[in-house]
Amino acid sequence: MKGERRHRGVLGVMLVLAGGAVALGVDKPTSAPKTCVTAECHADYAKRAFVHGPVSLGDCKSCHEEADAAAHTYRPARQGNDLCEYCHLDQTAKKNVHEPLRKGPCTDCHDPHSGDSKALIHEKTVAQLCAKCHETGKDMRFLHGPVAVGECTICHTSHSSDREKLLVDEPANLCFSCHVVTKDELSQFEFVHEPAKNDCIGCHNPHGAANAQMLKADAPELCYPCHEDIKKVAETSRHRHVAVTEKDGCLHCHTPHASTVQFVLKDAPMSLCVSCHDKPVTTEEGKPVAAFTEQVQGKKSLHGPVAQKDCAGCHATHGSEHFRLLAKDYPQLFYAPFSPDKYALCFSCHPESLVLTERTSELTDFRNGDLNLHYVHVNKQRGRTCRSCHATHASDLPKHIRDSVPYGVWNLPIQFLKSETGGGCRPGCHQPFTYDRQSPATYPTRR
Ligand code: HEC
Ligand code: HEC
Ligand code: HEC
Ligand code: HEC
Ligand code: HEC
Ligand code: HEC
Ligand code: HEC
Ligand code: HEC
Ligand code: HEC
Ligand code: HEC
Ligand code: HEC
Ligand code: HEC
Ligand code: HEC
Repeated sequence: MKGERRHRGVLGVMLVLAGGAVALGVDKPTSAPKTCVTAECHADYAKRAFVHGPVSLGDCKSCHEEADAAAHTYRPARQGNDLCEYCHLDQTAKKNVHEPLRKGPCTDCHDPHSGDSKALIHEKTVAQLCAKCHETGKDMRFLHGPVAVGECTICHTSHSSDREKLLVDEPANLCFSCHVVTKDELSQFEFVHEPAKNDCIGCHNPHGAANAQMLKADAPELCYPCHEDIKKVAETSRHRHVAVTEKDGCLHCHTPHASTVQFVLKDAPMSLCVSCHDKPVTTEEGKPVAAFTEQVQGKKSLHGPVAQKDCAGCHATHGSEHFRLLAKDYPQLFYAPFSPDKYALCFSCHPESLVLTERTSELTDFRNGDLNLHYVHVNKQRGRTCRSCHATHASDLPKHIRDSVPYGVWNLPIQFLKSETGGGCRPGCHQPFTYDRQSPATYPTRR
């Protein structure tokens, strides 16, 4: 702005401002005055803290043209904004002109002679001037720093601009000029949230807001308009995750700007889960959810994906049609009639043939000779589900066999023993059984 400003120069002659010059009373002017600012006449113009260039030079004529010398009346030297733009070129030249300048005159905001405030504005501060016509920041619980201290013109020009909303720079550049930390994060972190690249005001109100951090809305509502698909899953799934849907939900796990972790996550996925699931919680329906950490801490073997910290291999974090936020179908109870789609979760990584094939010498180690005991237990009308023998997250026994399995109120022991060529159990379900892949055990005839 400053660089573009040009003056046509002050036309007036250098005249003494006050004191000794000849004073001519307003009521009886007899000859052309040498100056209009004297001890008696218009003296106050020179006494204010800020005096306009031409006025300080006594050059009244640059704005006032004598109409009638006898009556001491004057008319404006030029009409409208031209009065001022004659010297201050191009104040209204840019694409978007501030409404008061379009309508004129400049004196809506400036005193043409002198004033007590910088830039000869009528009010004490720029903010007070703006506040005469704009209620910016009114009733906002959280005000932006520069707005709170009235620095409107850090971001806006008062006159005209080629940018929308009279901004002095592109919005993101404006923000970066002060928020260097945010700028650094965006340039240095590998994963950047698309709108944070330039659309700061997509989420923040630049002046302030009813919500902390000047957010237009709190998460998750803030995020939903752009993430309709997540909204649908989060809000309408049969099983919802409070961590997602509660106030600030999304921000438990995601950063809004940028991150060193994929999907702009705040931390490695498993660390995020464990930050809440290190203790028991309850679901919306009041059902207990056991602490995840207790199931894995100190355990001898972790299930493959758990060892790889891949919770998403089995859980749909944002919401799911399946109990326990499982990504795919998996029977919830001890018994279930068999069909492969009911085990879609396990079969997304393990082959279906594990359970479909009755006789095999290779598909599974859980066999007696070539009789597939997975087939025997699982593949029938009253099939035992995987959970009756396997723990899902971790176990102390080989092959994730569990110590015991909840059966009604009873924790039914399994007492699994593994041998070189087979194994055995003494569960509460039936008499002790062994299986052996090389020298098959003989079982009593089944009903
Ligand atoms: C930069 C242009 C400009 C200059 C220079 C200027 N005036 Fe003015 N003056 C105005 C305008 C515009 C008005 C009308 C005020 C308004 O509308 O608020 C005005 C109004 C006045 C008035 C009417 C009463 C008032 O204060 O509103 C007097 C008297 C006056 N000027 C005297 C002078 C004298 C004396 C000088 C020289 C020392 C001078 N002016 C220099 C622009 C100027
Ligand atoms: C004859 C030329 C001339 C005219 C006409 C003129 N100005 Fe100025 N104006 C100046 C000069 C010279 C300065 C001082 C330059 C500087 O400080 O850079 C100045 C400075 C200003 C300033 C800055 C004061 C500050 O404290 O920073 C404002 C505001 C201003 N003029 C407003 C107006 C308005 C409003 C009008 C019309 C009513 C007007 N000017 C008409 C010559 C003019
Ligand atoms: C809506 C109020 C408003 C109107 C109308 C207005 N100005 Fe200003 N003007 C300001 C404010 C506020 C500043 C001080 C900006 C700052 O401090 O950052 C200013 C600053 C200035 C300056 C000082 C130099 C600069 O650009 O910072 C000049 C000269 C000026 N105005 C001339 C004019 C002229 C000429 C007009 C009419 C064409 C006009 N103004 C109309 C509010 C206004
Ligand atoms: C004399 C009244 C008045 C003053 C004083 C005033 N404005 Fe305005 N301003 C308006 C009007 C009228 C509009 C157009 C209607 C609207 O958007 O509210 C406007 C529009 C705006 C806009 C939106 C422009 C756009 O393109 O949509 C911004 C930004 C703005 N003003 C900032 C300021 C700032 C900053 C100040 C103080 C330096 C200020 N205004 C002082 C009357 C004023
Ligand atoms: C940190 C920069 C910044 C500051 C400081 C700032 N604004 Fe704004 N202002 C903006 C941005 C950016 C927009 C555009 C908002 C949009 O398009 O949604 C805007 C828009 C506006 C508008 C247009 C209407 C609206 O609310 O969208 C007005 C009027 C306005 N500001 C006035 C002011 C006033 C008055 C002040 C001082 C009290 C001020 N602004 C301080 C950045 C700022
Ligand atoms: C002139 C410097 C300046 C500019 C430009 C600026 N800010 Fe700020 N911003 C501040 C200050 C100062 C604070 C208050 C800092 C604090 O409270 O820790 C702040 C606070 C914030 C906060 C709240 C931080 C908190 O901890 O409460 C957000 C969000 C914010 N600014 C966003 C923006 C956005 C978006 C833009 C661009 C439209 C922007 N800022 C432009 C100086 C600026
Ligand atoms: C997708 C929405 C969104 C976008 C886009 C966005 N922010 Fe934010 N921003 C937020 C949220 C949400 C917070 C609060 C974070 C929290 O509480 O953990 C925040 C916090 C901030 C803070 C406070 C300090 C901090 O990092 O927590 C600043 C400053 C900030 N944002 C600046 C910006 C700037 C500058 C831009 C544009 C480059 C921007 N934001 C873009 C949503 C957004
Ligand atoms: C203004 C629109 C907008 C808002 C608001 C918004 N986003 Fe986004 N988000 C996008 C766009 C565009 C992408 C990139 C395209 C895509 O993956 O859909 C994206 C991508 C993402 C991604 C995937 C990033 C990746 O690396 O693949 C996550 C996670 C995300 N957003 C979370 C959020 C969260 C959390 C919020 C609320 C705090 C939010 N978004 C608000 C527009 C938005
Ligand atoms: C409990 C942690 C957590 C919460 C809370 C959370 N997310 Fe995610 N989000 C993730 C993880 C982990 C991923 C990585 C991929 C996956 O598991 O689906 C992700 C991926 C995403 C993606 C990119 C991949 C996709 O599925 O499109 C978007 C967009 C996203 N989240 C948006 C959101 C929004 C919006 C919210 C709030 C409504 C939210 N997230 C809440 C953990 C979370
Ligand atoms: C901010 C805390 C928080 C975080 C982070 C979190 N959860 Fe949760 N989670 C809860 C709460 C509280 C519940 C119980 C209320 C409910 O059902 O949503 C829960 C419930 C669950 C349930 C049981 C749901 C049901 O309906 O039985 C599973 C499974 C789950 N979370 C997995 C995860 C996974 C996987 C992650 C990491 C991607 C994770 N959680 C991150 C708080 C959290
Ligand atoms: C191999 C699939 C699988 C993986 C991988 C997995 N889970 Fe689970 N998770 C399940 C199943 C199945 C259940 C339901 C257990 C039940 O009802 O017996 C469950 C239940 C849960 C529960 C509810 C409490 C409970 O034990 O019933 C939480 C919390 C949980 N998982 C967190 C996690 C976290 C955190 C991770 C990543 C470290 C993870 N899960 C990885 C399959 C998995
Ligand atoms: C996301 C992929 C994935 C899903 C889903 C999955 N698993 Fe696994 N599972 C693995 C991996 C990887 C291993 C480790 C394989 C290895 O070490 O040879 C493993 C190993 C096992 C083992 C032990 C095998 C051994 O040789 O030690 C059992 C038992 C098991 N899974 C049962 C299940 C059950 C039951 C389900 C369904 C609730 C399931 N898995 C779902 C990936 C998965
Ligand atoms: C009646 C108990 C029982 C049930 C029910 C059961 N398993 Fe197993 N499973 C075992 C035993 C015992 C082993 C270990 C065999 C060995 O290594 O001697 C095993 C081994 C495994 C292995 C390791 C590879 C292999 O076959 O040797 C996988 C994978 C596996 N089971 C998956 C499943 C899945 C998926 C289900 C549900 C569809 C399931 N199991 C149901 C007892 C069971």
